[in-house]
Amino acid sequence: MKLRFLLFSVPALIIASCAVPSGDVEANFIRVIPQPQHVRQDEGSFTLDKGTVVFLQEADSQYVRIAGFLNEKLSKAAGFTLPVREEKSAEEGRKGIYFRNAGLPDEAYHLNVTPSGIVIEYGTGAGAFYGLQTLLQLLPAEVFSQEKESVKWVVPCCDIEDAPRFKYRGMHLDVCLHFFDVDFIKRYIDLMALHKVNRFHWHLTEDQGWRLEIKRYPLLTEKGQWRKETVIGSLKSGIYDGKPYGGYYSQEEVRDIVRYAADRFVTIIPEIEMPGHALAAIACYPELSCGLEETYETATRWGIFRQVYCTKEETFTFLENVMDEVFELFPSKLVHIGGDECPKTSWKACEHCQGVIKKFGLKDEFELQSWFIQRMERYINSKGREIIGWDEILQGGLAPNAKVMSWLGEEGGIKAAQQHHEVVMTPYPKYYLDYWQADPDSEPLAMGGPTLLKTMYDYDPVPEVLTPEEQAYIIGVEGCVWTEYMPSPARVEYMAYPRMCAIAETGWSKTEKDWEDFTCRLEHHFKRLDGLGVGYCKAFFDPYIEFHDDTPYNKVVTMSVDAPGAEIHYTLDGSDPTEQSERYELPFVINRSQKVRAVAIRNGNRIGNIKEKIFRP
Ligand code: ACM
Ligand code: ZN
Repeated sequence: MKLRFLLFSVPALIIASCAVPSGDVEANFIRVIPQPQHVRQDEGSFTLDKGTVVFLQEADSQYVRIAGFLNEKLSKAAGFTLPVREEKSAEEGRKGIYFRNAGLPDEAYHLNVTPSGIVIEYGTGAGAFYGLQTLLQLLPAEVFSQEKESVKWVVPCCDIEDAPRFKYRGMHLDVCLHFFDVDFIKRYIDLMALHKVNRFHWHLTEDQGWRLEIKRYPLLTEKGQWRKETVIGSLKSGIYDGKPYGGYYSQEEVRDIVRYAADRFVTIIPEIEMPGHALAAIACYPELSCGLEETYETATRWGIFRQVYCTKEETFTFLENVMDEVFELFPSKLVHIGGDECPKTSWKACEHCQGVIKKFGLKDEFELQSWFIQRMERYINSKGREIIGWDEILQGGLAPNAKVMSWLGEEGGIKAAQQHHEVVMTPYPKYYLDYWQADPDSEPLAMGGPTLLKTMYDYDPVPEVLTPEEQAYIIGVEGCVWTEYMPSPARVEYMAYPRMCAIAETGWSKTEKDWEDFTCRLEHHFKRLDGLGVGYCKAFFDPYIEFHDDTPYNKVVTMSVDAPGAEIHYTLDGSDPTEQSERYELPFVINRSQKVRAVAIRNGNRIGNIKEKIFRP
């Protein structure tokens, strides 16, 4: 029997397959994230063993490095590596993995697996790299293990043709509210690459710390990396830890990271915030401010602060000099200039800023912001680079060549696309990974929410109100990781995963969204993340209980669970729910002071935690 289009035609079988135990049987199923464009599963499998050879049609360093990524995984998980040779040296019929240039578009690949060999066709290094990422996901999940595994390295026979939906598939990381070291940044990039995410938006400057070494302004890191303490709990607590906090990246470290990312086909988009969120820089060089305050200090909690760059010459000289070093470090054509949340308080009170408004016939401080950004854009364009900024760069008129990162919902993105500017969709709160992903009652502190995995998965970044011509200006998506409440790498990974997998799929996959199918693939994907030691959130297996307001005396209760094929069972008497407890089928009503306790059960087994929610009027 030919198992053609298995993934799309036999959903019932797929649900059942989610429960298949680990091992060789797994090779019968293709579960790749992000979902490839065309998948045809064929009969049989290819077995990768010590006798397998990687043959490169183009044996230059790029492809040798790509083959090296496979060997890196195999050396840990399989205890052997494969020889890498030029294809012209291959004997007829030799069992191998062949990388061949078939002139495909950038990032596209064609992967064909038969019992006698694997062929990855590409047109560019990125295509070859993404073909390899898919091949890794066709192997047993144990290939991602850090220890030697005793499984048979089988790959299901198949034919996969794949190419991305969007050219910009991004993940952002704020390293200012909290700082993360070079090893973690590299790991973050590795995980992005595994999901075919190709833009790392590195948020390097903020009110709470300046993290990038700039040789011409050493104070930025000598002093600006530091804040004297950090708020404990929420930003409203008013209680501080009294411990100085700092960290920055030297230029040498940045060069190393940029190279590391490029090897994995990830472009780094550096962000230098202006005109707002600039308090750390102003604390080092107060002459860059409007000069209205007694002192300027790096912020110790998240906020929107009135101390912003003044619109005077010194500021532009400073920012242009900073940008010159940024251009030296980052080859990306696109640089992020921030532009968000710039209060106009200081500009309103500043003689110089008011003078600029008058001199250039500007209407107000919003037009002054636009004037500021346009002036920086002219400089940045003159160096052959382009700017992207948060929505607020639309205020007072968009700079002529700017791209927009739409975070305040979709409105800014829609407006920019209608004006024929390219847009990356990062809408808050749908793509904000600092928001809760499960019931806030039982989750660590977060910025708000919740934004559940399904909400993130379901989001479509191409607004229907746009015409097809305007829709073409939506160039991609990005997940935002603001680290207000993420003091450690473990917390970042917990908040980012698995939701980032959903964003990656929206960025890459052209196939129609299918939640059931996604959850099935994701549950298998967890084994890969386990192998890599990613401490993702496991709310996927827990019931999500919601109370909806009705009268003061009652609530309407709904429950859901992400894990495919799971049922929810619950109690209202405080006892532990089991398979024998009431099964949740429809929303129901509870009265004051009732406790709902629920658990997800699949095939007779509990699969997650008991969740509890109490109505206390
Ligand atoms: C933002 O979240 N302030 C872009
Ligand atoms: Zn000023």
